[in-house]
Amino acid sequence: MTRYIEEHREVHQLFASHLYTCDLDDPFNELKDHKEDPGHVYPGEYWGAQQNSKAKIDNYNPDYRVLEKFPEIKEKILTICSDYLKGYFGYTKNDFLISTSWITITPPSVISTEHNHRGAFFSGVLYFDEYDEKSGRLVFVDPLTLLKPYNLESIYEMDRDKCWSYVITPAHGRLCLFPSYLRHKVEKNTSDVTRYSLAFNILPKGRWNVSDSDSMIDSEWFAE
Ligand SMILES: [Fe+2]
Repeated sequence: MTRYIEEHREVHQLFASHLYTCDLDDPFNELKDHKEDPGHVYPGEYWGAQQNSKAKIDNYNPDYRVLEKFPEIKEKILTICSDYLKGYFGYTKNDFLISTSWITITPPSVISTEHNHRGAFFSGVLYFDEYDEKSGRLVFVDPLTLLKPYNLESIYEMDRDKCWSYVITPAHGRLCLFPSYLRHKVEKNTSDVTRYSLAFNILPKGRWNVSDSDSMIDSEWFAE
């Protein structure tokens, strides 16, 4: 029976979520030099802990357009993302834009709670700073988890196509790109150094949702 299963089987891995990574050879000094500027974003748990402070809330003015200040880095990231989306997925009828971008600050002992990025198509993170094994890894969670009515332990649960969560270790120059629906979190930063990363969202340009009739959007409608 086992032999029959191994010799005649075909396993169809349906409807994968695609995580793209690459390691860029760039010091990203501009981002490093501005990483302590005001307006950066704290993970949800830290922010929640601050909500008793009225002054903190009043002074909190997050900058979600950080990459507008660094056009060369923005162009570099966008080129990689566009090449991937067109080349791998075949989305050649659209160009793409970076809609929002922000620097996330994760102080020592802080985590980022699980979330996804709504209002976006793809999302990404660039690790422009320096990190070590205590900085806190990026953890992606299987979006089908909520649909699965069971939780069985498996000896293969670390395999990419069978795991319930998947981990990326931050390293200088590492770029990750993933569909915005994919929920993710950051493990506790157990180092004594604040962890900085650049997050961003991507939208298509031109016409999209074309086959959905009343959901169709043309970005030209909103061009100024
Ligand atoms: Fe995120």
